[in-house]
Amino acid sequence: MRNKIIIGNWKMNLSLADAQDLTFKLKSSIKVERPAEITVCPPSVYLLTISNILKDTPHIKTGAQNMFYKEEGAYTGEVSPKMLKDLHIEMVIIGHSERRQYFNESDKDVNLKIKAALKFGLTPVFCVGEDLKIREKGEAESQVKNQVLEGIKDLNSADIEKLIIAYEPVWAIGTGKICSGEDANKIIKMIRSTIKEKSTPQISETVRILYGGSVKSDNFGEHIKYPDIDGGLVGGASLNFEEFMKLIDLASNAHSQVQSHSV
Ligand code: 13P
Repeated sequence: MRNKIIIGNWKMNLSLADAQDLTFKLKSSIKVERPAEITVCPPSVYLLTISNILKDTPHIKTGAQNMFYKEEGAYTGEVSPKMLKDLHIEMVIIGHSERRQYFNESDKDVNLKIKAALKFGLTPVFCVGEDLKIREKGEAESQVKNQVLEGIKDLNSADIEKLIIAYEPVWAIGTGKICSGEDANKIIKMIRSTIKEKSTPQISETVRILYGGSVKSDNFGEHIKYPDIDGGLVGGASLNFEEFMKLIDLASNAHSQVQSHSV
């Protein structure tokens, strides 16, 4: 059975003091492992501070929001997978739509980053999602499928199994417009069947696929009950301690319900 997972993507938000305060609050409220896995992704300049606070709390992981695909060298301003490993970071968001949109990251870059993350033992949180124009043209499924295929190009099944995939429709990010649970589940099912084509049926049932885009505690209950939606990649709501805790509770309860049905 797949564990549910909630990942907080803080993006370029919070002062250092606020980031520390939020982390200490999470740490003191989540003393033991929850049924849902939890990760926070602070801005890269805070990674060391936040991962140090959480180092004796292995059930709350620290992830990065981005990295370059080169190991080291003259790449001013970039952070390498090797450096993330040095900080004991276990996860890295790759191909977020904001990286694609504002920093011109291509599918090819995303593929190289996924390969580099895997080489260094980092779990890629591989983001895909269509923009509004594509959705209105009825091409959401074909574009997302294409992004998935390009992102996992040349990966073997063992590597594909290590991915977490996040379906984040661009039009739903930070807009308050949520993709319905039914629509999100439909695309996520398609992603799962694409994974099946490129690996094995067993692996396609193991890979976790999350929904992201205006996730809040008052809308996510609808999403998390769908069996193919394994959790959330959360932006704005992850900056608020109470909201983030509610999302962790929703995912934990959904996990426990699935578990009780499967025994
Ligand atoms: P919001 O939850 O703020 O819409 O952001 C979603 C997102 O981009 C998470 O990576």
